[in-house]
Amino acid sequence: MAFAKESLMNRMKISDRHCVMSFQSVFIKVYFVLVATNTPCALRSSKYGFVCFCNVTYCDYLEPVSPKVDGFVLTSSSKEGLRFSRKIGQFSNNTIKINDYSELKDITNEPNVQLIKRGNRENKIIQSKASKPRDVTIKIDRTKKYQEIVGFGGAFTGAVSDNLKHLPQELQDAVYLSYFSKKGIGYSMIRMPIGGCDFDLEPWAYNELPENDVTLSNFTKLNYLDETKIEQINRLKSVANITNIKIMGTAWSPPKWMKTINSWTGLNFLQTKYYQTWADYHLRFIELMASKNMPIWAITTGNEPLNGVIGWVFVHFMSLGWTASSQAEWVADNLGPTIRNSKFKDVKIFSNDDQRYTFPSWFESMNETRKESIDYLDGLGVHWYWDEYLGPSLIDQAHELMPNKLIFNTESSLGDKPTNIHAPLLGSWKRAEKYARSYLEDLQHSFNGYFDWNLILNEQGGPSYADNFIDTAVVVNTTSGQEIYKQPIFYVIGHFSKFIPEGSIRIDAERSNTNINTVAFVRPDGTITCIFYNSAKDEVAVTLVDSIRGNIEITIPPKSLHTIEYN
Ligand SMILES: *[C@@H]1O[C@H](CO)[C@@H](O)[C@H](O)[C@H]1NC(C)=O
Ligand SMILES: *[C@@H]1O[C@H](CO)[C@@H](O)[C@H](O)[C@H]1NC(C)=O
Ligand SMILES: *[C@@H]1O[C@H](CO)[C@@H](O)[C@H](O)[C@H]1NC(C)=O
Ligand SMILES: *[C@@H]1O[C@H](CO)[C@@H](O)[C@H](O)[C@H]1NC(C)=O
Ligand SMILES: *[C@@H]1O[C@H](CO)[C@@H](O)[C@H](O)[C@H]1NC(C)=O
Ligand SMILES: *[C@@H]1O[C@H](CO)[C@@H](O)[C@H](O)[C@H]1NC(C)=O
Repeated sequence: MAFAKESLMNRMKISDRHCVMSFQSVFIKVYFVLVATNTPCALRSSKYGFVCFCNVTYCDYLEPVSPKVDGFVLTSSSKEGLRFSRKIGQFSNNTIKINDYSELKDITNEPNVQLIKRGNRENKIIQSKASKPRDVTIKIDRTKKYQEIVGFGGAFTGAVSDNLKHLPQELQDAVYLSYFSKKGIGYSMIRMPIGGCDFDLEPWAYNELPENDVTLSNFTKLNYLDETKIEQINRLKSVANITNIKIMGTAWSPPKWMKTINSWTGLNFLQTKYYQTWADYHLRFIELMASKNMPIWAITTGNEPLNGVIGWVFVHFMSLGWTASSQAEWVADNLGPTIRNSKFKDVKIFSNDDQRYTFPSWFESMNETRKESIDYLDGLGVHWYWDEYLGPSLIDQAHELMPNKLIFNTESSLGDKPTNIHAPLLGSWKRAEKYARSYLEDLQHSFNGYFDWNLILNEQGGPSYADNFIDTAVVVNTTSGQEIYKQPIFYVIGHFSKFIPEGSIRIDAERSNTNINTVAFVRPDGTITCIFYNSAKDEVAVTLVDSIRGNIEITIPPKSLHTIEYN
């Protein structure tokens, strides 16, 4: 901790000097907020860019601050190494130029704290000063209101639970604080598999034995794997000081005996004689979790149903196939009535939980088979994996058909495609940028919530019994067990999740051109939050126009993401 303070002092000196040099001619008040509880990112240069590393004594956090009347709080991250860098200013005709590259320090080789000199950054700055940067105007219109936000979260898979077990308690707590506390990125939701999934040490389900057991006589208590998760989540709740976590439960596969083939994967469906048993299985899980004081907020009708219908050719992990029509029968005749006639009737039911290309036809087809099946649904879940090839109009169509249903992204991860490197790319901004694009697009298209996939994975991108290794926002060094690495993805998600609490409502943020992408919200406390991304390789001069407050001009660096908060 001694180091942290010293580093802050150094930083303050450098920053102050920088402010005086950069801003003396424009007369604005910009100062850095350095409160004792805030710790900056411990920046480390990795193979693909910068990560922030945490160890048992050090991790970066940023306490939220409320903007003063007429004031704003600007938080910035960039490819070049800004990570939740914060500036505070007044809203009256300010001009801010964010090129505080002095903030970028690789502290890997501390105590020799040095500025990172990568490439010809200095030359770049001079060049962009010489030519006028491209510009864009964002007009905030508080009167145009759209969807309400429910929350953001990640998945607590068997892999996450196992990786946590390999870390000392201090680092487990750092994971919980980083994701779920207010000084972290404010997650409020967890996606939890019911039974196993591809990110587990092996496939598993409740009541694998005895077979053909319609009463689920052997599903009377939770598996030790889930009991461990509950212990971990209880710790998470107390460490991060969060009482109310929304848990969404999703099954990948029933025990093999319920299926048309005796296998976890492949072309497989639920035997119709077990339709009711599979509904009871979900209710049993909800009951047992509630008995452990871990209430389930929502369930989905099952992970990626098409993996058991067509996807099995290339997807070799636990699945259960459904067509929209067969799922409609199950929801209308079994799952819906079972949940709604139980003590847990308020548990929300989400359907589809598959890729965007199934929208909206999946629901139209459900509707044709059993109209009531749609009435049982509270929400639509969608995974992001083919979003780059399919526009958001499919989501818009589904929203038009069912305007009162919640829309959630229920899974996102990278490194899954055949041509990808199937592992975390430490420091990759390119991968983080895909998240920025996805959060912006989804939020512009009626989404109420967003779940990322595994909260943490190891250096290989696992463990995954199916060798389905991928990237993630926080990587654990399981070799030493002494460090975790917060990827650029973590900060990109945080630019949304940290600043858009539950109950926020999207408002209009109209941009004059496509030089940046943006989305804005009004929070329950009335604070306006606007998030904007510059995907270009050059600076962009952004003018934010608010009809009540006035204007603010901000010149933002290449490849940078910003969240501005004001009243
Ligand atoms: C943790 O990281 C900080 C910051 O780099 C460093 O000062 C400290 O010595 C590290 N602690 C351990 C136990 O490695
Ligand atoms: C900002 O400047 C413009 C013109 O320079 C002026 O019309 C406007 O009133 C100013 N706004 C505020 C909030 O000071
Ligand atoms: C109940 O399940 C456990 C494993 O979870 C198994 O060891 C046991 O044999 C099962 N009981 C019966 C009666 O099949
Ligand atoms: C925990 O959260 C509650 C309510 O959200 C708040 O009142 C309390 O001050 C917090 N405690 C700590 C130690 O931050
Ligand atoms: C379901 O079908 C009815 C007509 O039969 C139609 O009015 C309604 O919009 C459909 N809903 C969905 C979700 O397709
Ligand atoms: C993990 O820790 C080991 C041992 O300290 C180290 O050799 C290795 O480089 C670390 N891994 C990463 C990705 O930094």
